[in-house]
Amino acid sequence: MQELAVFGGPRTVPAGMVKTWPPLTQEDRDAVMAVFDSNILHGTSAPNAVALQREFAEFLGVKHCLVTNSGTSALHMAIAALGIGPGDEVIVPAFTYWSTAAAVLHHNAIPIFVDIDPVSFCLDPDKIEAAITDRTKALFPVHIHGMPADMDRIMAIARKHKLLVIGDACQAHGAAVNGRKVGTIEDTCGFSTNRSKNLSSGEGGLFVTNNDEAFRVADMLRQFGEVLVHGQEREYNAYGLGWMYRQHEFINAFCRSQLRHLPENNARRLEFAQYLTAALAEIPGLKGPATPPGREPVYFSYIVRFRPEELGLDLPVPVFKAAVQKALAAEGISLGQWQRVPVPAQSVFQDMEGYGKGCPWNCALYGKQIRYRGEDYPETLRFIAEHAYLGGVYPPNTMELMELFVAGLRKVMARPDAIQRLAQAG
Ligand SMILES: Cc1ncc(COP(=O)(O)O)c(C=O)c1O
Repeated sequence: MQELAVFGGPRTVPAGMVKTWPPLTQEDRDAVMAVFDSNILHGTSAPNAVALQREFAEFLGVKHCLVTNSGTSALHMAIAALGIGPGDEVIVPAFTYWSTAAAVLHHNAIPIFVDIDPVSFCLDPDKIEAAITDRTKALFPVHIHGMPADMDRIMAIARKHKLLVIGDACQAHGAAVNGRKVGTIEDTCGFSTNRSKNLSSGEGGLFVTNNDEAFRVADMLRQFGEVLVHGQEREYNAYGLGWMYRQHEFINAFCRSQLRHLPENNARRLEFAQYLTAALAEIPGLKGPATPPGREPVYFSYIVRFRPEELGLDLPVPVFKAAVQKALAAEGISLGQWQRVPVPAQSVFQDMEGYGKGCPWNCALYGKQIRYRGEDYPETLRFIAEHAYLGGVYPPNTMELMELFVAGLRKVMARPDAIQRLAQAG
């Protein structure tokens, strides 16, 4: 048996073998360079903006799309375009990137957190109804890690209580539930195209909706509250509050070029994830993610669960996890941590300063006193304690790399004695 790399043995994955995301091609470079030649750098009617919106809408099968300068701006537009605002509550999962909740606060509404379910790690439909009050306006499921939320049940709860549904699909371009892509099911939805995302343009976002009125309002919000009609002179009149959420044509051109490869890249992620999950099922101590029936994830990230009891180790999960992470890092395998606490436990929700002086929580239009407590979300706490993220599970990485990952995971997990030693050394 080979010694673990952490104790001086050979490392499993050669240095430099794990490639970064996204794969870049000459086609991407040509698309960006063509923008220089066109000399059209921005504008809501600019050719790449218009074409990207059409192409992404076609990819999803949704009526309207607007390109924005971040996922957060797309989410803010998704809230604001539905008329959600001061005094309204929006139900958000306690496990997400906090931008989901920030988008609610950006429009002076109040995020109310609900725990995640223990299988998909998305908003738990069983816990939503207990959080609904006379102030609740909308549900805001997040398709986390590329796993679509339980949209059938979430939409049924929304219909029953006459609530709107906003989607955070920042991590889920192309994910589907029973054949329907996320973004086409909700009233409005936002996607991120920042560097790490399945559809990457470095920075950026995409707002989508099937609702004509939400589209009209979102279009206005995206550019200073003005109404711009292609081919007509600009009025310079703001019809309401607006922001500057336009995108640059370099990015629009780059995003279009990347979009052409999204289906094949998602298929590759799925192939890698299925291979890893099958392998992990046979490796005591670690497990891959489960997919509930009807859901078609796109594996924005590949999550791994730590199970010390399967190795007969009587260690707290975080201690076991830290020891395994250390051993794997030496093998050239990154099993990293993302969120460290539930969103409601973050300082912004503990301090509740908001815009300053406690706004929007102390807004007279709200008139309620709430407190956020991280300990109210046991499944979120459990998820954070028990999981880490395997880096490199995307193209241009290859199946050969996935096989090395499995070899390294097997090698480390075959040595509970060494894991125990690392755990004791701290
Ligand atoms: C779940 C989720 N929501 C929102 C965002 C915000 O997107 P962006 O960074 O493009 O503003 C991200 C990504 O950072 C995300 O992962």
